[in-house]
Amino acid sequence: MTFSHKRSDFPEGFKFGTATSAYQIEGHSFGGAGRTHWDDFAETPGNVVRTENGAVACDHYHRTDEDLDLVKGLGVDAYRFSTSWARVIPDGTGAANPEGLDFYDRLVDGMLERGLEPHATLYHWELPSPLADRGGWRNSDMPKWFASYTEVIMGRLGDRVASVAPINEPWCVGWLSHFMGIHAPGLRDIRATARAMHHVLLSHGRAIDVMRGLGMKNLGAVCNFEYPQPIDSKLESVAAAERYDGYYNRFFIEALFKKQYPEVVLEGLAPHLPLGWETDFDQIARPLDWVGLNYYTRKNIGATDAAWPSLEELEGPLPKTAMDWEIYPDGLHHFLTRLAREYTGDTPLFVTENGLASYDVAMNGAVQDPSRLNYLESHLDAVKRAISEGAPVKGYFIWSLLDNYEWALGYDKRFGLVHVDFETLKRTPKDSYKTLALALNR
Ligand code: FCB
Repeated sequence: MTFSHKRSDFPEGFKFGTATSAYQIEGHSFGGAGRTHWDDFAETPGNVVRTENGAVACDHYHRTDEDLDLVKGLGVDAYRFSTSWARVIPDGTGAANPEGLDFYDRLVDGMLERGLEPHATLYHWELPSPLADRGGWRNSDMPKWFASYTEVIMGRLGDRVASVAPINEPWCVGWLSHFMGIHAPGLRDIRATARAMHHVLLSHGRAIDVMRGLGMKNLGAVCNFEYPQPIDSKLESVAAAERYDGYYNRFFIEALFKKQYPEVVLEGLAPHLPLGWETDFDQIARPLDWVGLNYYTRKNIGATDAAWPSLEELEGPLPKTAMDWEIYPDGLHHFLTRLAREYTGDTPLFVTENGLASYDVAMNGAVQDPSRLNYLESHLDAVKRAISEGAPVKGYFIWSLLDNYEWALGYDKRFGLVHVDFETLKRTPKDSYKTLALALNR
């Protein structure tokens, strides 16, 4: 096992951080949070492993100080967290929950007291159920509702956060949740997908306006990217991989930076987009101060005869993580350089999520997780290469601080630098945590 990186190898001011999200760690049954579509989705048999949900999760709601001490102990500069809409406004619209606002207030102050920069995300997937009842992301009122929520939460925290992104991973909110049915609300419907993808972008733009109106700075967007590898060199496989690249990697960033949707995606989605979508790009593409990339893996893509997008994901030959995701650091280098070259120019880039799940066991107060260190080592190499080629990469956040609720896969997939025993909720820093803490001090 090697870990050769040290802080001093990175440019002056480069930020290291770690990331979590609200529903995955807080414990949504505490503190007056409202019901979310993840609670509904999880309660329906077949959606989530063992029908697990985020009711308790890591009980971060009650262990905030202990967890922030762990962030501090890691030696990072920054902590990326999210605020839960349903904790802040339990019905999605209307009255705020004072306990929820107080919680995030304490959380942000806790970071500042420890010298950690708070990097906030406003939506990391726990939609209040009353909004899901009204069609959720399919509803064209979503941008309005999301703007009101933004006003409430940032009216409270906006003077103290280091950066904000409105929505985590629009692809997951749109495609994974409405086309593939893998995340809440679990739909498999092309029309719902097209609408959700468009409304997510409009909501993003509206939230940016609200925060600019509050005088806030350092506003960005966080998108996820997967390297599309054609399964072979046949023309049809290459074309299938281009379609995948279109709806996964290009759709959102192209709307945000070029005010258009890729042709290869419009081939399938155009008939299903909401009326007048062509005139919405000014509202979507508000100027941004930074862009975050979440990157984990590549997908091997082949063509099929099925309906558009007429493709399938096939098993690839590379070593895999516990998620069965291939380990492919070149993909991270690809997206950092490609974004700078084709879309974002000089806009600062951050890797806002990167990490792996492994089958970690706590024994005698220690957890050996060499595969995590290898993964981080190789992906930090890719970041360094991108920087040396001129990509303006300004920071790197590891997913995740704690083992947590990995959505449809429940609590089995352990992404944490810190092990969590979900019976006792005891935290045990893994070997990767200890090695990183040393590296970040060098
Ligand atoms: C990302 C999500 C995050 C976590 C990681 C593994 O897509 O943003 O919540 O599930 O994947």
